Amino acid sequence: MDNATRLQYLETMGIDVWVPRVSVNHEQASTPDAIAENALPEPIDNWETLQAEVASCTKCGLCKTRIQTVFGSGNKKADWMIIGEAPGQSEDQQGLPFVGKAGLLLTEMLRAISLDREEVFIANIVKCRPPSNRDPEAIEIETCKTYLMRQLALIKPKIILTVGRVAAQALLNTDQPIGKLRGKTYTLNDTPVVVVYHPAYLLRSLPDKRKAWADLKLALQTVKNIKG
Ligand code: URA
Repeated sequence: MDNATRLQYLETMGIDVWVPRVSVNHEQASTPDAIAENALPEPIDNWETLQAEVASCTKCGLCKTRIQTVFGSGNKKADWMIIGEAPGQSEDQQGLPFVGKAGLLLTEMLRAISLDREEVFIANIVKCRPPSNRDPEAIEIETCKTYLMRQLALIKPKIILTVGRVAAQALLNTDQPIGKLRGKTYTLNDTPVVVVYHPAYLLRSLPDKRKAWADLKLALQTVKNIKG
């Protein structure tokens, strides 16, 4: 017996016919509004999916020269998200961000404002090491930034601290020099953003350490203002 005949029989016998929701919705979804209302929700992102996607990413040429991707590390519920430029040689080897010399200074900078590395989440704009540590290209930044935005959406930090020119420019969509960008608070999707010099640069340029300290204090104050 075909389904239509079966339904007719059941109806004649006064038996309520159970209709799966999907078909009901299908009937109703004839206008654009109804389609929007009945549309399946966007799949909810999660760390496992995101991490697996990054680990196997081949969306740009950097995948050909990397040893491994550097997803980011730290507290996935952090109040502070620290965003650098791209992995260097040590990071490429270890699969962790900021583990070289610059990383040691970054750890000290965080400690200066009473933050442990494990307490914050550290990631980069680009997840693979550019060959010979060259600056990431615009297309590499654009392609990889979607992963970072997904990390941000999962963490929902109270503040973003961008480290160095490349990260600041990429996140704030500007080509202004870092000297102009630092010292102010910006917002990205309602999250405050503070720009600080890159520790690798500070290792070469001691006089700017004082400015970096001022920027760290600005970030700290920004977070305090949110809480208070
Ligand atoms: N420099 C960065 O910007 N990120 C790292 O992970 C290491 C060095």
